[in-house]
Amino acid sequence: MCEHVFPSTSPEALLAAVLKSNANTGNPRLKEILEIGIRHLHAFALEADLAPAELEVGLDFLVAIGQASGPKKHEGILLADILGLATLVQLNDARHALEAGGTEPALIGPFWRANQPERKNGERISTDDTPGPRLTVTGQVLSLDGTPLAGARVETWQASPKGLYENQDESQPRMNLRGRFVTDENGSFSFESVRPAGYPVPVDGPCGELLAAQNRHTMRPAHLHFLVVAPGHKVLATQFFDVDDPHAQDDVVFGAVGSLLRQFESDGASGFKLDVKLRMEPGETRVPKCPIP
Ligand code: BEZ
Ligand code: FE
Repeated sequence: MCEHVFPSTSPEALLAAVLKSNANTGNPRLKEILEIGIRHLHAFALEADLAPAELEVGLDFLVAIGQASGPKKHEGILLADILGLATLVQLNDARHALEAGGTEPALIGPFWRANQPERKNGERISTDDTPGPRLTVTGQVLSLDGTPLAGARVETWQASPKGLYENQDESQPRMNLRGRFVTDENGSFSFESVRPAGYPVPVDGPCGELLAAQNRHTMRPAHLHFLVVAPGHKVLATQFFDVDDPHAQDDVVFGAVGSLLRQFESDGASGFKLDVKLRMEPGETRVPKCPIP
């Protein structure tokens, strides 16, 4: 690394001045986050020996992320996902629960929809004409101490066997392969569906350009999403992945980890079954913002 000596100031003096300018930030948490962010940004620019033209490219990229986003598309979420940041933040947030046997979280991604249809336990989330192998999903929501959580809201969404979410695919009816269930007195829920397929993340925006520049593949292994809301517990967002998918060990957004990789077992006929336990950490219930309507 080159030496950083400026005639008029030093990197240390410049950093100190910028940190001082942050000193009156009113919100203490915001002040802390800005302070840490500023320190890391300055260290990054020095370590990378960042040229002005390179800073310009980076800032233009951030502008493009914003311009590619709108009410139906959140390119910022995709950026956090492909850089592993979403997975890191979720695993870090859950670290105490994980030590106590909590279910591993996984990123929400950009496809969770507001107002997914309310369905009764045992109902299908796929329309009858959705092609593909049948999948029966059973599950139970529990607190970390093993107490079943009755009345929990379980949201699920998944791609079709063609690897498309309903909002990406004109051949599927609105809200196909999505549902909202409430757990019974044993904390249980169940539904019928079809086996999902893996799919590429959206590559029509700047994140697609970044993946191409990195010579990366774009695939997620087949999975089902769950978002569980239970009073007195932190919201759990997670996914269960098909361990037989060719990208099971190589998820483009780094979400397919550890215990979330599952064998979709034969149901003895021509379909498959999946049973999941969702172990929730007691805490404040803060429902995340839904990325699309
Ligand atoms: C998803 O699983 O729905 C997803 C996650 C990250 C990027 C794109 C899609
Ligand atoms: Fe997904």
